[in-house]
Amino acid sequence: MATAKAHTNIALVKYWGKKDQELIIPQTDSLSLTLDEFYTTTTVDFDQELASDQVMINGQQLGGPAARKVTRLLDIVRQRSDLTARARVDSHNHVPTAAGLASSASAFAALAGAASQAAGLQLDRRGLSRLARRGSGSATRSVYGGLVEWQAGNDDQTSYAVPIMEEVDFGIEMIAILIDTRQKKISSRFGMQQSVATSPYYRLWPEVVAHDMVAVKKAIAARDVDQIGAIAEENALRMHALTLSAAPGFTYFDSDTLKAMAIVRELRANGINCYFTMDAGPNVKVIYDRVNREAVYSSLADQLGADRLVVAKPGPGIKIWND
Ligand code: PMV
Repeated sequence: MATAKAHTNIALVKYWGKKDQELIIPQTDSLSLTLDEFYTTTTVDFDQELASDQVMINGQQLGGPAARKVTRLLDIVRQRSDLTARARVDSHNHVPTAAGLASSASAFAALAGAASQAAGLQLDRRGLSRLARRGSGSATRSVYGGLVEWQAGNDDQTSYAVPIMEEVDFGIEMIAILIDTRQKKISSRFGMQQSVATSPYYRLWPEVVAHDMVAVKKAIAARDVDQIGAIAEENALRMHALTLSAAPGFTYFDSDTLKAMAIVRELRANGINCYFTMDAGPNVKVIYDRVNREAVYSSLADQLGADRLVVAKPGPGIKIWND
């Protein structure tokens, strides 16, 4: 029996599109910031007495396709460790409100960590990153803290994350704006597939990412939060342009997403530097240097309500222990 704690991450240069659906090999590299405020703690116990895997999330039994995704990852672990026992999985998402921000990133990183440890597999962090990838692409990066790069690679062996700066020694922070905390309507898996298959702009995406990866690493080395934020905002808009330009077109934005984007642009026009990014959902994350925290926070709180805001700082990598 083992437990793992993994934090979620938000991509500054996004992963959007797979070249292998089964192994989850992405079309491009990506780069993210692991956050302190949002994490998942998961305990896995393999038990010969169980007839099937039992998955609990925040005290509720999980069923359907979500439970099957968990079993699929457990099957990989069982196969590698020659185990046949089914598992009891007890998972807790730690998010400040009942929010939809508990991304699959922290969940599958924690599951990979706890399951591999409970099964007696001695995985190093690269091995853990590769295993987490099989659950959810973004989970690949949640094995590490701070700024993390997922190197796309070409196959299971070569697709994993590497740390860029685990202990972030400059002032980058994010405010998460909780816009709609319900389950998203279009999964990232489906959204990516549609974009790759039908957006005429998708063929430009690998070029965009290659350029942004070089630029963002330079900006990180220079500890230039404004440059990092500007790259992240532009990259996010270009990712979301792939959804708008798919056939049929779709979007993850809702009206409050646009409102939050407008507030960020207005703050910037008034000399308070901050930048936005969005994933496969309507919530907005605002990137800024901690010297601007008060100004950014108070303006967002005035216009959107403080109860919808969570201030997050760079967070740590995965921790795993035996119970
Ligand atoms: O890991 P998934 O399948 O939930 O995909 C994540 C996709 C984005 O969050 C939009 C981008 C990213 O790099 O995390």
